[in-house]
Amino acid sequence: MSFAEIADSFFKPAVQDLVPYEPGKPVEEVQRELGLERVVKLASNEGPFGPFPAALEAIEREARGLNRYPDGGAWRLRTALAELHDVRFEEIAPGAGSDGVVDYLSQLALDPGDEIVCGWPSFPSYVIDALKLGAVPRRVPLRDHRYDLDAMLEAIGPKTKLVYVCHPNNPTGTMNTRSELDMFLDQVPGHVLTVLDQAYYEYIDDPEYVDGLEYLKAGRKVVVLRTFSKIYGLAGLRVGYAVGPAELVTAIGKVRRAFDVNSFAQAAALASLDAPDELARRRAANAVGLVQLEGIMREHGLEPSPSVANFLFAEVGEDSRPLFEQLLREGVIVRPTGGFGAPGAIRVTVGTAEENSLFSEALERVLSAAVQP
Ligand SMILES: Cc1ncc(COP(=O)(O)O)c(C=O)c1O
Repeated sequence: MSFAEIADSFFKPAVQDLVPYEPGKPVEEVQRELGLERVVKLASNEGPFGPFPAALEAIEREARGLNRYPDGGAWRLRTALAELHDVRFEEIAPGAGSDGVVDYLSQLALDPGDEIVCGWPSFPSYVIDALKLGAVPRRVPLRDHRYDLDAMLEAIGPKTKLVYVCHPNNPTGTMNTRSELDMFLDQVPGHVLTVLDQAYYEYIDDPEYVDGLEYLKAGRKVVVLRTFSKIYGLAGLRVGYAVGPAELVTAIGKVRRAFDVNSFAQAAALASLDAPDELARRRAANAVGLVQLEGIMREHGLEPSPSVANFLFAEVGEDSRPLFEQLLREGVIVRPTGGFGAPGAIRVTVGTAEENSLFSEALERVLSAAVQP
């Protein structure tokens, strides 16, 4: 009997019905498929700049020691992050991307039938990782493209274990204010852990945007997620972390695979922490790029939601895939957001000024072709 014959009964139902996360298309594949010389990827919210120079040097140094397993405890990285955030070493949990941390949180908390609450459209891993374990995701519709924290409070029940606040939300780029979050955390029932996902934290310069660590330090029941994938330019290495209560960090250590955060990732992340000027330069470049991209979208009749991150989200009709395909043929990869719960929208990541202009030209060609008889 072949495996195909037993496949239906072999997989647990929670996995059988799962729709996997659909990653953004790689540039090389699009180039090859469509025979294009230049392809611009504005699809995965990566930073347009590479790793910091110190990170590249650290990777080179680390290469010589690759016969050794990584430091399973990520001792140096945890120490540096604890110092950076003025928290205890025991409160830092590195992971294989912050996506890895979402997986750890799900594994350590969710039994079949347990529930999570998150906004929707939002980051799909919250939902996928819960479903994998037979847990039930309660997806609360956004209001005006923002997390509706009042409605989320109503969705919390006795079986809820984790509540995700995607802050700012991917794919819409929107945030909640300090007073909204204060009120929310005042009312979240005691048995629930709130996950403040701040993957885009370093880009944001809005006085109303709260650093989730403030809540942790004030003794609220929260865990804060951060990543090196965005402004630090290390998405390919897969390294992020949680800052949370020591007991939670200990439990993460039980479910994480011993060597999830590889040697390059640890070394490059560590080396990236000492470059405040470069961080500020990238934050400023993103702010300029965000304005440029917003202008481009508006010029073409799109209405992006108010983003504080490094991407913009806009509704384009019932189904955004045709626009995605047309832009692809013009050499620009954007993200159709069906997998995030918004099948009629696209998300466009801020690129360099040149990349943003190429997006503008591609959009121009696609839209003018659409109006021709
Ligand atoms: C809101 C949010 N959380 C987490 C992640 C995962 O990032 P990574 O696993 O690369 O750290 C992303 C990536 O796009 C994101 O948008």
